[in-house]
Amino acid sequence: MPLDEMAPHPDLERILKSLTLEEKIGLLSGQTFSATASYPEKNVPSIKTADGPNGVRAPATSPNVRSACFPAACCLAATFDVDLARRFGRALAEEARQKGANCILGPTVCIHRHPLGGRNFESFSEDPFLSGKMASQVIQGLQERGVAATIKHFVANEQETCRTSVDESISERALREIYLRPFEIAIKEANPWAVMTAYNLVNGTHCDSHKFLLRDILRGCWGWDGLVMSDWGGTNSVADALNAGLDLEMPGPPKVRKLAAVKEAIGRGELSEDVIDDRARTVLRLALKLEAVAENNPCSSDGEKPEHNELIRQCGAYGMVLLKNEEGILPLSKAKVKGKRIALIGYAQNALAHGGGSASVNAYYKITPEEGLHAALGNDVEFSYAKGAHRERLLTPLSSNEFTGRVVGADGAPGFTLSIFEPGSENATITRHGHISSVYSPLGSNESYKKIIELVGYFTPTETGEHYIACSGLGPTRVYVDQELIFEQDKNTADPMGSLFDAAPEPEVRHSFTAGKTYQIRLRSEPPLNIGLEILEGRSGARLGFSPVSVHDADLQGEAVRVAREADYALIFTGHDAQWETEGQDQASFCLPHHQNELVTAVAAVNKNVVVINSTGVAIAMPWLDDVKGLIQAWFPGQESGNSIADIVTGAINPEGRLPVSFPRNIEDAPAHGNFPGEYIDGELKVKYLEGVFVGYRHYDRLPRQKVNFPFGHGLSYTTFAFGDLKIQNVQNESFDAVIDVTNNGPVFGGVLIQLYVGKVQATREHPIKTLAAFQKVRLEKGQKKTVNVCIAMRDFAFFDEKQQKWTLQEGEYEVSLGMSSMDIVSSTRFSVIRTLWDP
Ligand code: BGC
Repeated sequence: MPLDEMAPHPDLERILKSLTLEEKIGLLSGQTFSATASYPEKNVPSIKTADGPNGVRAPATSPNVRSACFPAACCLAATFDVDLARRFGRALAEEARQKGANCILGPTVCIHRHPLGGRNFESFSEDPFLSGKMASQVIQGLQERGVAATIKHFVANEQETCRTSVDESISERALREIYLRPFEIAIKEANPWAVMTAYNLVNGTHCDSHKFLLRDILRGCWGWDGLVMSDWGGTNSVADALNAGLDLEMPGPPKVRKLAAVKEAIGRGELSEDVIDDRARTVLRLALKLEAVAENNPCSSDGEKPEHNELIRQCGAYGMVLLKNEEGILPLSKAKVKGKRIALIGYAQNALAHGGGSASVNAYYKITPEEGLHAALGNDVEFSYAKGAHRERLLTPLSSNEFTGRVVGADGAPGFTLSIFEPGSENATITRHGHISSVYSPLGSNESYKKIIELVGYFTPTETGEHYIACSGLGPTRVYVDQELIFEQDKNTADPMGSLFDAAPEPEVRHSFTAGKTYQIRLRSEPPLNIGLEILEGRSGARLGFSPVSVHDADLQGEAVRVAREADYALIFTGHDAQWETEGQDQASFCLPHHQNELVTAVAAVNKNVVVINSTGVAIAMPWLDDVKGLIQAWFPGQESGNSIADIVTGAINPEGRLPVSFPRNIEDAPAHGNFPGEYIDGELKVKYLEGVFVGYRHYDRLPRQKVNFPFGHGLSYTTFAFGDLKIQNVQNESFDAVIDVTNNGPVFGGVLIQLYVGKVQATREHPIKTLAAFQKVRLEKGQKKTVNVCIAMRDFAFFDEKQQKWTLQEGEYEVSLGMSSMDIVSSTRFSVIRTLWDP
């Protein structure tokens, strides 16, 4: 029986009745960081959550657990392959079950509103239709394997700057057509068992306490009856949130829904016991359902699964987008490059497999581009390598390695010694040794809550001279070398959210060391008080990075130019690592960090055969675009990164990815430019979504073509396709069919994306020229022809009439276009809507 049709547990009401008020209140918040309460004596199981959208992230309490790292959602979206998304969901569910989790915190369907959005990578697209359709498949895949999906973040978490306090003004029309739409599609098609609210405010109210969003839209208009949980630390009220419909405060133990606070709200009449019953019933219903599903579906043992690795490799490659291929420089097949010299430059020895924050995954392994290409092209090619630019945003932690030297703790074992003190006392309550790095995470355990942490290591450098030391702490922090104070931060960090995700700027100081001499390095950090972020209040945390000057200030670009000059081909790997593109921060710039643009320009000046392989979740500036022959957008493709890249570079897989986001030439032309991340008014960040529904290609369609480097839907192939005339058939009230003949008339097997856009022939300023209303991936052998029939629902190009509070399809003539991108229309036809349709 489909899991959604499963009747509620027969004992649901009986168990609910058996609970005391206190127990019911206990169900309304997490018990731990990731799980809800269980009362075994009353047969109440717990819901065990785990991040997230591209792999099962180990709980913060066990950071050493490894999992399979899947491609980020932007990469999955670029496949435009709904079957792949379904398989992705199933595999993610199996991973979750193996790790003991029964509720995945994903998929993320917020919209790529602006190229600087820090979390765009973990969302699908700028287009709500594509986002909703892909999310729907991931959810169905997860849930048919018995794991709840938690679609997030409801709604409009499109920026990280001040994400917990930013107030967003969004018109109802933009909400309905753009930001709520992916949720609506996925909720109606796939019925996710849970929804996570967003941190931000929408039109003056925090999302967790938002009656219009939770009660009127989600449970009202859409008739959905699953569980609503807050984002972590994103519960902002007791009575309002419970009354609006927020079932669960996460994480636990609760900061807001403490027993006394909830009882007081009941006592004051702000909250009824019926509401408590309703919320507790929802939590209990899902917990019982997940338990029943698990009993019926035994799961396999934990560990790597070859079939998941294969799926990840395939999905990573299918998501890569060949943006440019002048003179057919790609593919670099074995035959073509036999005996040639290929310079691998940039992040060739690093797999940019995932972004940062809760969507990062401690992967089983990560294949670097160098490993992937060596495996694919083997000994037939002479490879060289140059780093070309630094990668990390922060200096690496100080640990024993060949570049820096040896670090031992007080017991002589490698690493630092950690001591934890009560403020005012010099006697440590906890002391630990052995492989402790110079980073102490504030999350995961309460051992340092409101306590001082101290890391002490004895460091013997391998190099004489100046070294960089970089540091930041959540609370006041000092670093001493042999009792000399060399770094001091006398207040809380200015960027708590960044610190949480290893992305806060760390001031660097320089200090001289002598090779072979041993120095005591001591970092002492106090707990932050009044830090302004509930989840970090009182939690000590600090990070110390380190680099010899010789490494830090090396002429990496000069070395890359030397290496490229000697080579027949130069492949430059650019991008953002997980500290640059992460939750908790928007992008620092539209330009790639660490002078990567200059690197590409410098290499292209000495080598005519340059291919750039870029790993970001967002569009970036490409001032060097005319100087390079080939360009692949590789996103964050997961643990098989290097193999997926090699498959595309060598032609083992014919590229078929298409851009799920537009790539503007200049950031000034982005639709939200000037309204991102907003404006501070009396110290509070406010952002106006003034572009309304004109997000992504809906905006660029109205600008001259040259404003974008690459439009939405663009992507090249190693083969070519020919199309017949687009025809419309079977026009009904709710839908019609678009029919087209497609032939692969090129040299190899390949996939092509049928993109169908619909817009009114008489364009008006109020409506986008056209919107994506259907898509289908078609794969054809060389010479093969196929007639493709795609059903288009009227609803998928209707607009929301705020006055009438209805979706509307105005009477008139409409154009249906087949595009190879939103700006490259290959065939179109028209049809008429005789009279205006409401809520089609
Ligand atoms: C993120 C969520 C995530 C949660 C739990 C929050 O910081 O916004 O997406 O699921 O943490 O890790």
